[in-house]
Amino acid sequence: MAEILKFPKGFLWGSSTSAYQVEGGIENCDWGNRAGIACDHYNRYEEDFDLIKKLNQNAHRFSIEWSRIEPEPGKFNQKEIEHYRKVLLALKEKNIKSVVTLWHWTNPIWFMKMGGWANKKAVKHFENYTKIIVKEFKYLIDFWVTLNEPMVYITGYSTGRFPPFQKRNIFKARKVFNNLVKAHQKSYQIIHTQYPKAKVSITKLTNYFEPARKWCLIEIFLAWIGHIFWNHWFLKRIKNQLDYIGLDYYFHHRVVWYPPFIRNFNRKTTDIGWEIYPKGIYYVLKYLSKFQKPIFILENGLADAKDKKRKEFIKDHLFWVYKAIDEGIDVRGYCHWSLMDNLEWAQGFEPRFGLIEIDYKTMERKPRSSAYYYAEICKSNCLKIKNYKIKNFSL
Ligand code: BGC
Repeated sequence: MAEILKFPKGFLWGSSTSAYQVEGGIENCDWGNRAGIACDHYNRYEEDFDLIKKLNQNAHRFSIEWSRIEPEPGKFNQKEIEHYRKVLLALKEKNIKSVVTLWHWTNPIWFMKMGGWANKKAVKHFENYTKIIVKEFKYLIDFWVTLNEPMVYITGYSTGRFPPFQKRNIFKARKVFNNLVKAHQKSYQIIHTQYPKAKVSITKLTNYFEPARKWCLIEIFLAWIGHIFWNHWFLKRIKNQLDYIGLDYYFHHRVVWYPPFIRNFNRKTTDIGWEIYPKGIYYVLKYLSKFQKPIFILENGLADAKDKKRKEFIKDHLFWVYKAIDEGIDVRGYCHWSLMDNLEWAQGFEPRFGLIEIDYKTMERKPRSSAYYYAEICKSNCLKIKNYKIKNFSL
């Protein structure tokens, strides 16, 4: 028998992107021009927003590219400001709520030349950039995200997976951590001073850590360490500067006491080998609810070129989101990653995370079958499920 799980009234349903991954034509940032024209979203945003509308989504997360706005220190490019104004107005016109990320990992070249986030002047520069964005767009932005997943950036930066693609020591990484904390705190104040009603957060990639054996003290301890380091540390530092919590959920870690310390069962995986573990979103929501702020899921998705697993992925994750809401956790919305296929950073264009498939030769957009499945959920504000034991949620 099918059961219908109704989400709260006004729940936001959408999908996310970031500038460097979809826009194309970004040349002044530290990732160089490896993205080429990407999905050419910079020129085709109207068409893409029409698709969002057609797919019944009522929210959209995207990022503003700092290197476009401030190509040289202190010099702001009015043409690019007008571009993003048009983007925001297009969303408003279509009645789609905007969730805007100010920094989704890419940095202007001049900023990296002066030492990037390890330089203490970094915070001041980010403040100046924030000031411009608030001054120009404040009423047009519904939800603010100052920083995307700072912990991922810090590890990417120190391991050399992110620009400048060199390994850095722990002291440098610690500086980057502190400067990102400060950048968020300052940026939060600036936004609130000019626009007290603003809803400001970061996105926090929150992973579910569990000891492989519930009785093994060392595994319990290691799972706790992982959780504190990865999930809690940054959030704790900024907990007084959050109007809501932006959650990104992708990973579950089953922790063992021997190297490499993580041993998942991997019964189901994505095209790039990530374990699919829907129940983890329920546990991380429970953890985040301790901060007593509304939660907005701003990323959750998978690489699945053939679209064989995406529908079930969405259904199973939303099932656990529903369970959390049913237990009283204040979840306000869900944005799938991603609206369309895009550049998966160092992994290139191969992984396909999109609800919409992109033909990179013709730039044709084609919603996948799972996009229509998700569209039904967005429209009805309900999840229809079969064969689940609803009462005890025993998946
Ligand atoms: C990032 C995205 C990325 C996605 C999939 C998130 O951590 O914010 O930019 O594409 O994960 O890896």
